[in-house]
Amino acid sequence: MKSCKVISCALAKGGTTKTTSTINIGAALTPLGYSVVAVDNDPQSNLTTALGHDPKSVRYTLASKMLNVLDDSDGPLMKDCLLPCNMLDLLPSNQKLALVEKRLTVKSKSSILAGQDDLPAELVMRKTLEPLREHFDYILIDCPPSAGLLTINAMAASDSVLIPMEAHFLGFEAIKQTLELILRVRAQLNPALDVEGILLTKFQDRTALAATEDMWTVANRIIVDVYSQIAGISTVLAGLMSAVSVIGAKMSNNQHKVDQAWDWLKRIWIAWAIINGIGAFIAYVRPLLSGLNTIT
Ligand SMILES: Nc1ncnc2c1ncn2[C@@H]1O[C@H](COP(=O)(O)OP(=O)(O)O)[C@@H](O)[C@H]1O
Ligand SMILES: [Mg+2]
Repeated sequence: MKSCKVISCALAKGGTTKTTSTINIGAALTPLGYSVVAVDNDPQSNLTTALGHDPKSVRYTLASKMLNVLDDSDGPLMKDCLLPCNMLDLLPSNQKLALVEKRLTVKSKSSILAGQDDLPAELVMRKTLEPLREHFDYILIDCPPSAGLLTINAMAASDSVLIPMEAHFLGFEAIKQTLELILRVRAQLNPALDVEGILLTKFQDRTALAATEDMWTVANRIIVDVYSQIAGISTVLAGLMSAVSVIGAKMSNNQHKVDQAWDWLKRIWIAWAIINGIGAFIAYVRPLLSGLNTIT
């Protein structure tokens, strides 16, 4: 018997590349010699369409096989439901899967009345996909963008969950929701469930670069603001200290004290020159140089 790994691609948010990642991971595994079946677990059937099949015309789907399990009825063999797509196989989907989700919801609500031998609504997909385990190295399940019973079923049937996350701050809420769901499934249905990882997708370095530029613009404005105050205060302070030193030196008869006062005066002006030199360079000369660079 093959040692098969079942990975769900799941996140309770649309457009985060779950379907694309399922295809890409499948396409990366098959040239390495692994046999892969991709399971379309979304009533929108994007995976089926993306792999070149029309969901309206596919005969056997994940939904039909789950209905067989739900109704304890006979149906086609699982291997006859698979569609070959280049190097990987596809268990397709169509809108019937939405009806299956409704059936699962009803079944789940009536589970208190169910007998002990009755299969829980959350484990229907696990039983449906069981026959595939002995034929494939990997089963990749593309989940819908929700935390409903289809996703819970996929997690209960999986060894791990891969979470494709769009590199955007709005993605964090969905990550939290999905990780909480994984913990629930692990606690109640599938103790061996692992997190394969969070796959950061749709990363745009131009956005990151723009953010860095924004940060520099803000920092520059702060430096200019602070510098213009430091420049004023330090000039007034340096001038005041100089006046006190000069008057003190004129009034004093102690040459040693006069020398000390001049030494301090020199240090004050050197510090003033350094502080103002750095401030002026950062605030004015550097932007001027980068401006010249842009022109040339
Ligand atoms: N790595 C990527 N970089 C940029 N766009 C991508 C990437 N992967 C997928 N897309 C695009 O993002 C959109 C959503 O991808 P999809 O895989 O359908 O997400 P999901 O299945 O999570 O809803 C599609 O238009 C797809 O072409
Ligand atoms: Mg999708």
